Amino acid sequence: MSGARESVHGEWSGSVFFVLAATGSAVGLGNLWRFPYLVGDNGGGAFVLIYLLCILLVGLPIMMAEILIGRRGRHSPINSLRLIARDEGLSPAWQGLGWLGVAAGFMILSFYSVVGGWALYYAFEAVQGGFQGMDSDGAGALFEGLVASPALVVIWHTAFLLLLFGIVAAGVRRGLQRAVTWLMPLLFLLLVVLVLYGMTSSGFAETLTFMFRPDFSVVDGGTVLTALGQAFFTLSLGMGAIMVYGAYLPARSSIPGNTTWIVGMDTLTAIIAGLAIFPIVFSAGMEPGQGPGLVFVTLPVVFAEIAFGSLLGIAFFLLLSVAAITSGISLLEPAVAYLKERSGLSRTAAAGFITVAIWLLGIAAGLSLNAWADVRLLPFADLGIFDLLEFVSNDIMLPLGGLLIAVFAAWRVSAETRLAELGMQADSFRYRAWLLVTRFLAPAAVVLVFLNALGLFG
Ligand code: TRP
Repeated sequence: MSGARESVHGEWSGSVFFVLAATGSAVGLGNLWRFPYLVGDNGGGAFVLIYLLCILLVGLPIMMAEILIGRRGRHSPINSLRLIARDEGLSPAWQGLGWLGVAAGFMILSFYSVVGGWALYYAFEAVQGGFQGMDSDGAGALFEGLVASPALVVIWHTAFLLLLFGIVAAGVRRGLQRAVTWLMPLLFLLLVVLVLYGMTSSGFAETLTFMFRPDFSVVDGGTVLTALGQAFFTLSLGMGAIMVYGAYLPARSSIPGNTTWIVGMDTLTAIIAGLAIFPIVFSAGMEPGQGPGLVFVTLPVVFAEIAFGSLLGIAFFLLLSVAAITSGISLLEPAVAYLKERSGLSRTAAAGFITVAIWLLGIAAGLSLNAWADVRLLPFADLGIFDLLEFVSNDIMLPLGGLLIAVFAAWRVSAETRLAELGMQADSFRYRAWLLVTRFLAPAAVVLVFLNALGLFG
């Protein structure tokens, strides 16, 4: 047995840095762009409630499972799974789970980078004073103008990936640790300022009702699948991102303790983002179901109105880009770590190859919003390339990956390994609760939600 394997890629300098990096991975466009628009599209409170249940009952235990596997394997997810399977006499096919994650990471980052590019473009617009005097019609036109332009979408997607690559090449510790230590708290502070502003507006009461009073008549199987997919997406679960960060976790650091912090901060950020954005929606008489443009058509309106608005606008969209970059890094890392282990390439070269592949896929995703709007890859699913990539990766591959991770950690790996990594006693309540949830509840939830979404329960 190899309980004390060492990471070939180095280690975080302490628990705090792991928590910061994993929070940097978790907090991103998923919280500020995707969560608010999903709440808007899915009718508010009921979606929020189901989402919170998914976070607590499925996300939290599976995050512990991912970190546990990563720290035991100490390699990229593909090799960690292969090594643990070998140590414990399990099927080598488990490494396929690592490949599923690498594929999901490619697909997610391709459209993620397109949206990250939008954030950069908005920061640039803010610098030019572009939000001055903007009303909600103007904000809508700005966003539509961006998305309808193949050149703008591709240029800013390219800029985003170049920045991302630059930081990864500069070294994760030097670039990333510093970014998450200072910039993420700043982003959070800015969001709080926006919430305070929202509290003074006429739309705040309606926001509270909308977000926290559940109306279950709008819920169907699709809603629950979307909430579950978003729980995986926002916590960066199901594809090995948190697993690979766990591979760099010092041996003495507590997995349950760290997980609680990461999940707590991510959830808080999503709720705060909703509380910042919906007051603007309701005060301006806009519809909450705006789809993916929601943050981009709402926030410029506030920045046009408040004191120091242009400055705050620049800061906000720059910080949003940073949040997207710290998440993007974790989407790259499983593939980069594997390529490095496999080929002996430098980190920079490995990241370079993978970034180019994602850049190409991202161009297809970006063009599918304008020039290639009618292109369909799958004739039976009426989705453009962007939407298809988002649907297949978030709503299918992540829950499937999460399900297999739960099965591997809670059923296949030996109890000895689980207890050692989680730092728990076999007869403790915490361990029994985790095992019960990860063995039965989390996998059953994923399976039921899948079956339901496929329409098997009518
Ligand atoms: N969690 C990030 C967000 O909310 C996105 C992300 C980063 C991610 N790494 C991931 C999503 C791994 C799924 C899997 O923006």
